[in-house]
Amino acid sequence: MGEAEKGVTTALHVKARFEKPAEYPERFPVPDDLVGWEIPYAGYAPPYYVSPVVLQNDSSRNPAGWADPEGVALVAELPAESFSGVIRFDSAGRPLNPAGRTGIAGRGLLGKWGPNFAADPIITRINHHEQRVEMLAVQRRDNGQWAIPGGMVDRGEEVSRTLARELQEETGVVLDMGEGVFVYQGYVDDPRNTDNAWMETTAKHLHLDHGLAERMDLQAGDDARAVRWLPLSAESIRGLYASHCALVSSALAGLGRDEHSTLSKRDRGIVESLLKML
Ligand code: BGC
Repeated sequence: MGEAEKGVTTALHVKARFEKPAEYPERFPVPDDLVGWEIPYAGYAPPYYVSPVVLQNDSSRNPAGWADPEGVALVAELPAESFSGVIRFDSAGRPLNPAGRTGIAGRGLLGKWGPNFAADPIITRINHHEQRVEMLAVQRRDNGQWAIPGGMVDRGEEVSRTLARELQEETGVVLDMGEGVFVYQGYVDDPRNTDNAWMETTAKHLHLDHGLAERMDLQAGDDARAVRWLPLSAESIRGLYASHCALVSSALAGLGRDEHSTLSKRDRGIVESLLKML
């Protein structure tokens, strides 16, 4: 992995052990020193949970569904590998979370056994009137938090296509994400993760020219309550959804290095003063 990605990978997942969506049962306690599957944890008895929404979306029964069947043996193409490497399975044939125990078995709210792939388009601009860096952000309907306008990769879809599609669906903005700078690809410490189902994402960053960004019409899509150019500060970045804080910080660090010399001296100064506060 390159320098840009290092800050994102959580050696010890935290949200996947200490947070959860309201409908999940309490997570079985997993202390820091008992996270890895290779460490024996006598008495580990996580509750099993699969959301009714996931069961209703079983694609083997409902052609429009986005979820795997509940019986793991019925899954036609269970992946052997993910961005986190070769997947391990338990004695029942269920994939094991590459970051270790989470205190919940089953799939929870995630449709796929094993990795559930998302794509995160990070779009930034410099607001010259306010002298600040801003990010195209959506307010999520599920929890009201501001977030990168990302979403799930459809079956068989190329990630570059997902990046552009989600951006358009959630914000109304059409951009070629092929031009974006690669920020991160791998495991996400997400509150929905379980022992057998987890999030992985691909994040790319596109920094827009002020003039182009000014002309764009923003329109909140289905999953978004609102869309805006969110002013970036230590506080607003910390308040972002799931591990978007780490993804955005990593994208900004890359922008600060300005490897492609795309920033004017003035813009560079604005980016640098934001980076100093992070
Ligand atoms: C979101 C992505 C996020 C991923 C992992 C998806 O639901 O749309 O933005 O990175 O979950 O948390």
